[in-house]
Amino acid sequence: MSFHVLIPDKLSREGLEILQVVEGFRLTAGSLSRAEAMAAAADADALIIRSATRVDAEFLAAAPRLKAIARAGAGVDNVDLAAATARGIPVMNTPGGNTIAAAEHTFGLLLALVRHIPQGHQALLEGRWERGLMGTELQGKTLGVIGLGRIGRAVARRAVAFDMRVLAYDPRLQIGEEREGALSVTLDELLAQSDIISLHAPANDSTRQMINAQSIARMKDGVRIINTARGALIDAEALAEAIRAGKVAGAALDVYPQEPPAADYPLIGLPGVIHTPHLGASTHEAQIAVAVQAAEQIRDGLLYGDFRNVVNVDVLPALTAGG
Ligand code: MLT
Repeated sequence: MSFHVLIPDKLSREGLEILQVVEGFRLTAGSLSRAEAMAAAADADALIIRSATRVDAEFLAAAPRLKAIARAGAGVDNVDLAAATARGIPVMNTPGGNTIAAAEHTFGLLLALVRHIPQGHQALLEGRWERGLMGTELQGKTLGVIGLGRIGRAVARRAVAFDMRVLAYDPRLQIGEEREGALSVTLDELLAQSDIISLHAPANDSTRQMINAQSIARMKDGVRIINTARGALIDAEALAEAIRAGKVAGAALDVYPQEPPAADYPLIGLPGVIHTPHLGASTHEAQIAVAVQAAEQIRDGLLYGDFRNVVNVDVLPALTAGG
C-alpha cells in the first residue's frame, strides 16, 4: 500500500521522521502557498496542517483521495468540519501537546499586562527612565477563566499558585463544582466578579464575539482581558471603545480574527493593550509534541484504521464498520 501525506505547513522534524521511515509513505512537506498545497492535494491521502492552511470546501474538492486530516494543534477552526464530515474524512487534533506552552504564555501575558513590562522595555529603549509605570499585584485578585478545558485548567492551577481566587465558566461544568482550584460559576457571575478575564474557549457559533459591548458592560470597572484562544471571541470595536472609555484597563492579545491582523485592526496601538503574534504554542517542546502526535495519528489511521482524537465524531461509525 502506498500513501501520499501532504504537510503544507511547517512541521517539526521529529514528526516528519516518524512518517519518513514508514514503507510506502511519500511526503510532500514545506511551507506551501495555497495554490501549491491545492495542487499537491490532487493525489494526497492524508493532510497534516497547523493553523496556516485553510482547509475549506474548495481545498477539500481539490483533494479527492483524502482519507484523513490531522491538525498539529488544538483548534480546528481552519477546517470546514461539515464538508469533511460529508466526505467521511476524520479530522483529528492533538490535544495536550501544547497545553503547557499556551498556559505559560497566558501567564507571561498576564504578568506583562499588570506590570507594564512591554511599556517599561520600550521606554528604556527610547531613553526614558519610567519608574512611574505602577502595576497591580495578582495576589488576592480574581481571575475569571472562560473555558475550563486543558489550557484553562493549567492556567487556573498557575493562578492558584499566585494566590489568586479563580472563577471558571464552562457550559460543561455544574455551577458550584470546583476543578483545579477554580469555582464554576455562571457567565454573569464571572463577568461581574473578575479583575482579570482569560479566554480559553474554542471559536464556534456560541462563543463568537462573546466579549462584546453587552458583556463588557457587565464586567467590573478596570477589568483586564487576556485572549490566547481565538480572535473571533472578541468584538474588537467594542473592546477598543471600552478601553478608550476607561471601562477596561487593558488587554493582552495573542490571537486575531485574521492573522496577521489588518493594519487598521482597532486594538493595535491602543495604550494598555499588549500583543504577541500567536505565540501561544510556540515552544520547542510543544511543537515537537504536536508534530509527533499528528504524525503517529496519521500513520496509525492510514495503516490500521486507528483514528484517535477525531473531532468530527459523526464519521466514526462508518470508519469502524470499515466503510
Ligand atoms: C492551537 O490551536 O493549537 C494553537 O492556537 C496553536 C496553533 O494554532 O498552532
